[in-house]
Amino acid sequence: MACCRFLRLQFYHNSCRAFRSRPSSSSSVALPFLAVPSCPRYYPLSFCHVSSSSQVVAAEPYEQEQQQESHHVPRSPDLVALEYSDLNLSYNLDLGHVRIRQHVNPLSSSFSVPAQVPDWNQVFADPTLPLMVDIGCGSGRFLMWLAKRNPKVRNYLGLEIRRKLVKHAAIWVKDLGLDNIHFLFANATISFKQLVEAYPGPLQLVSVLCPDPHFKKRHHKRRVLQKPLVGAIVDNLMPGGQVFVQSDVLEMALDMRDQFDEVDLLKHIDTLNADMSCDSEGWLLSNPMGIRTEREIHAEYEGAKIYRRLYQKQE
Ligand SMILES: C[S@@+](CC[C@H](N)C(=O)[O-])C[C@H]1O[C@@H](n2cnc3c(N)ncnc32)[C@H](O)[C@@H]1O
Repeated sequence: MACCRFLRLQFYHNSCRAFRSRPSSSSSVALPFLAVPSCPRYYPLSFCHVSSSSQVVAAEPYEQEQQQESHHVPRSPDLVALEYSDLNLSYNLDLGHVRIRQHVNPLSSSFSVPAQVPDWNQVFADPTLPLMVDIGCGSGRFLMWLAKRNPKVRNYLGLEIRRKLVKHAAIWVKDLGLDNIHFLFANATISFKQLVEAYPGPLQLVSVLCPDPHFKKRHHKRRVLQKPLVGAIVDNLMPGGQVFVQSDVLEMALDMRDQFDEVDLLKHIDTLNADMSCDSEGWLLSNPMGIRTEREIHAEYEGAKIYRRLYQKQE
């Protein structure tokens, strides 16, 4: 137990050191976590997913954990469980340890093989329904929440590069008895195009939510949203279809925004719908999905701002 805590603390400190030492390229690109006085957590989301034993676990500084335990202050993993409590998910799955601490390198050869296109009739009850694809879906609970609320209206496909999370999500989907959602182990950067091109119905919504930032310049090529993926999203979206992107890391949000802003076929939603307004910097004022993602919950708990953009393809 003590050893485990030490490792968690150690990881946390290493993360903080790494992120603090990042060069900040421009003073206007202030990174939200640098503004918070005590070093907030920026750890891979999957670090706080599920343990075999039962609950959602997260890396936390030991002292903070002790303090919170004694004052019964809810921790952000508790808030995640609360936000998804409607799903009634079983956390007692005997899957071994599902704690994954490292970012994967999507450029490594093990992730270079395109995912096989599934038989859509096998994975969805009605494969002609409009499709939402969540790129880098993490544990998948965000998408499960949506799928449960929208049966027979839309299908949901989660693409995730961590096989264990996909395996775990599939068990949850089976538990929930949902027939409009599927998770695929895939490097979305290279597999998205062929997957959606083979889907029989229209592509209605694509989300890229809090993608791994890969801060170092030489690692930017590891970011999931590369030019060919942007092209494949835009080409395959149905007219009126939407792209939703968000991040708690301004640098990352700006990167995604730059890539979609320059697509003529896409218009930002505030120019089309007066109810969807933005702040003075052009970021959406609220989350249009009706549910927050796990990373979003953790980040907001830490006081970070979430930078969101919602684009719509011209009819
Ligand atoms: C920071 S997490 C965010 C997860 C979730 N979208 C959220 O907001 O809570 C980023 C996720 O993207 C996944 N990911 C990173 N690169 C990917 C890629 N090339 N293809 C698919 N998933 C990827 C990671 O494994 C991780 O689960």
